[in-house]
Amino acid sequence: MRVGLLTGGGDVPGLNAAIRAVVKRGEGEHGHTVVGFRHGWRGLADGDVMPLTRPHIRNVLATGGTLLGTARYHPHADDGGIDAVLATLEEERIEALICVGGDGTLHAASKVAEAGVRIVAVPKTIDNDVWGTDRSIGFDTAVTIATEAVDRIHTTAESHNRVMIVEVMGRHAGWIAACSGIAGGAELVLAPEEPFDIDRVVRFLRHRHRAHASFSIIVVAEGAVPAEGSSMTYQTQLGPFGEIVAGAIGERLGAEIAERTGFDTRVTVLGHVQRGGTPTPSDRILGSRFGVAAVDAVSAGASGVMTALRGDEVVLVPLAEIAGKVKQVPSDLLEVAGTLA
Ligand code: F6P
Repeated sequence: MRVGLLTGGGDVPGLNAAIRAVVKRGEGEHGHTVVGFRHGWRGLADGDVMPLTRPHIRNVLATGGTLLGTARYHPHADDGGIDAVLATLEEERIEALICVGGDGTLHAASKVAEAGVRIVAVPKTIDNDVWGTDRSIGFDTAVTIATEAVDRIHTTAESHNRVMIVEVMGRHAGWIAACSGIAGGAELVLAPEEPFDIDRVVRFLRHRHRAHASFSIIVVAEGAVPAEGSSMTYQTQLGPFGEIVAGAIGERLGAEIAERTGFDTRVTVLGHVQRGGTPTPSDRILGSRFGVAAVDAVSAGASGVMTALRGDEVVLVPLAEIAGKVKQVPSDLLEVAGTLA
């Protein structure tokens, strides 16, 4: 079988592990030929192909990024995009397609599957907000990086008696904020799931600094917003592709806190550092497991499904079931983050 493979949306550490697994398992176990499409759906629409054989995947397991390249392009949102994808698939005689991506790429996958293409998807996003899977590739590395950052911020916060704000990624869900906040011992975690009341934040900081502490660390997800009707107004700033402008909420929160409390306050925006560098062992393992499961699934004739981690088991879930849903952080996890202040 000729199997196509692409990685779409924002890159994450662990993508190369998935690519490597698809090629090794696809070639070695099933005798498939794997064809890579560069830069996500863009490459599939443009016919930008590269062969994927064992020499192409040598020494990639520990590397970040994606050897295929990626892009934020969605064929169903482009005039003639789906037709261009179908034409390339026909030209390259691709019988099944494996797409590794986050919500945008998976939505595109379900549209292309509706057009009759055999597709198996693999979830990746540092935001960990893909519905239907306990974990997505890249999340563990991002949490590890963010936790290390919070650890490092601790010592300088304490030396200078400062309020330190650490802004992490997480557009619609605060998984990185909640997990790095708990693991790093942050005093407050602000996530999109629970809009915050700036007056309560200020009261908490004043009380803590009066009572026993000289510094505080707040981890804020980029998608966090103040509660409606509270005394801070803020409009989430979006870039040209609907992405959140990095640093916007962190800087604004820092300015509000400094003004309202008079505490010396600093802001650190982690940004794309969270998506770069070496994947953790967990992400290499998850990428490898999902890659094997995806190529096994296409070989068994599956289509319109996504590999998912449920507990410690890799299962297949219908793409139709996850469309349009966001997996948010459950309130009990946010409560843990709040309780340990
Ligand atoms: O969706 C993953 C993500 O890393 C978000 O957390 C972030 O808002 C966005 O991608 C950044 O996108 P870009 O790399 O296009 O700036």
